[in-house]
Amino acid sequence: AQAINAQIDAPEVEIFTLIDSTNQHLLNRIGQLEKGHTCIAECQQAGRGRRGRTWVSPFASHLYLSMYWQLDEGMAAAMGLSLVTGIAVVNALTAMNISGVKLKWPNDIYVEGKKLAGILVEMSAQASGPCQLVIGLGLNVNMPIQASAAIDQPWTDIKQVAGKEIDRNELAHNVILALRETLRLYEREGLSPFLASWQKMDAFANKPVKLLIAEKEVRGIARGIDKNGALLLEANGVVKPFIGGEISLRGV
Ligand code: ATP
Ligand code: BTN
Repeated sequence: AQAINAQIDAPEVEIFTLIDSTNQHLLNRIGQLEKGHTCIAECQQAGRGRRGRTWVSPFASHLYLSMYWQLDEGMAAAMGLSLVTGIAVVNALTAMNISGVKLKWPNDIYVEGKKLAGILVEMSAQASGPCQLVIGLGLNVNMPIQASAAIDQPWTDIKQVAGKEIDRNELAHNVILALRETLRLYEREGLSPFLASWQKMDAFANKPVKLLIAEKEVRGIARGIDKNGALLLEANGVVKPFIGGEISLRGV
């Protein structure tokens, strides 16, 4: 913790050996945190993904990281956060010579069709005032092979992608800096400075996909995102925006 804190000028980075969930830890402390406050853990006992799904979180093989942020724009701006967080992570990995990393709308990071990382943005319920947010990232670094049994979709880790082990301290450092810089730009200028980067990193650009919306399935061709971060889907020659939340995107 000291090594990382020394390299990054405040806000604080807390590091735990074991925790329930780094997102939950920060959500419990909203009101006492400075923007950019970060929590990292070596292992999570109750790591979570979207809609109550489990994030498989074994010891010392991963980067489990959450950062607290606050946005004056409220809910509407919170929508773009998973997208810009994805861009920050890809940029941090590219700077470490890890290439081929792509984004799946709205919150996943993939390499060649396998899930490398997931992003979970959560917010605390507030009647008024700025939107209080926790941005969580789970990034597979060097996963034990037994993890395969627990993860019910194709996945990968940085060791397989890069063909070598990487230093997790350096990774954490790069991700924290990239994320803080990205969030500062996002709160000043919104999504527009990020749209071109997102399109370049889009794993499903111009590919046939299906969207699972509650019990319904909608098929079409993925056409990137609009200026609000909604997914654009072309079906029967018409392009329509779909807003995040409860939607899952799948290749077909
Ligand atoms: P979507 O976000 O599009 O709904 P998703 O299936 O990826 O799709 P999420 O809630 O984003 O769902 O992520 C949780 C899922 O990620 C789990 O259900 C599991 O399939 C997968 N998963 C869990 N742990 C890991 C891990 N360490 N690495 C890769 N994938 C994981
Ligand atoms: C997803 O793909 O659904 C998102 C997974 C997010 C996992 C990270 S690990 C750090 C943080 N703490 C959690 O409990 N979840 C996020």
